[in-house]
Amino acid sequence: MSGNKWNATHYDDKIGFVSLYGKGLIDILDPKEGEEILDLGCGTGDLTQEIGEFGAVVRGIDYSEDMIQRAREKYPTISFDVGDAANFHTSQPMDAVFSNAALHWVRDADGVASSVARALRPGGRFVAEFGGSRNVGTIISGVEEELTARGIDATSRNPWYFPTVGDYSSLLEHHGFRVSFIHHYERPTPLSDGEKGLDHWLDGFADDFFPEFEGEEKAEVYKGIKERVRPALFKDGEWVAGYWRIRVVAVKE
Ligand code: BEZ
Repeated sequence: MSGNKWNATHYDDKIGFVSLYGKGLIDILDPKEGEEILDLGCGTGDLTQEIGEFGAVVRGIDYSEDMIQRAREKYPTISFDVGDAANFHTSQPMDAVFSNAALHWVRDADGVASSVARALRPGGRFVAEFGGSRNVGTIISGVEEELTARGIDATSRNPWYFPTVGDYSSLLEHHGFRVSFIHHYERPTPLSDGEKGLDHWLDGFADDFFPEFEGEEKAEVYKGIKERVRPALFKDGEWVAGYWRIRVVAVKE
């Protein structure tokens, strides 16, 4: 092999791999006309619809009836169903399963991997992004410390699954996947509405931690959390959450 040829091959491989880092998840999915693609944890269906614009035959599943109802209203020609990401069946083998910002809500990751493997045809791909290890770690510590100070052990209340690259790769391999790409990266995420941004985030996503608090008392708990995490997360008049993502592409063998 000539030196030039080796270099060109090496360069293409390297660039092909490196360029995946900056791409959007749908670019990485690279949907093709006629492919059967399932959007797992589709929410109100915006990405499902976008994938469909490439000519793929798309369908969406979400755990929330409200989300599915809204998705059906917005995109009446697409098939949307209520379903559990950790235990779902498809009527036919899929060419790809896609999932964005949903799977960190499903603690039964083994059930997810097994269901995705069952849904895909051999050679089909799983393309997903979700929270990885360290995700919102400062917020979680602040919540747990504030609740501990109030005599509550909150560790068992954490509703999220944020795996490491090693754990997630092993899980997928165990279910018969070849992991062709996996990337753990930091994506600091500004929360809108200035001082109120973290209150909105806690209201929207962290309810599981605070079942016994309401009204004024809950506001006091939030205040305590914000004092704990402010030095790390409040910058130039806004809260910036420390999001860490895992992006993965895996092929069913
Ligand atoms: C996220 O990483 O997207 C996320 C994590 C926890 C709660 C809400 C969102």
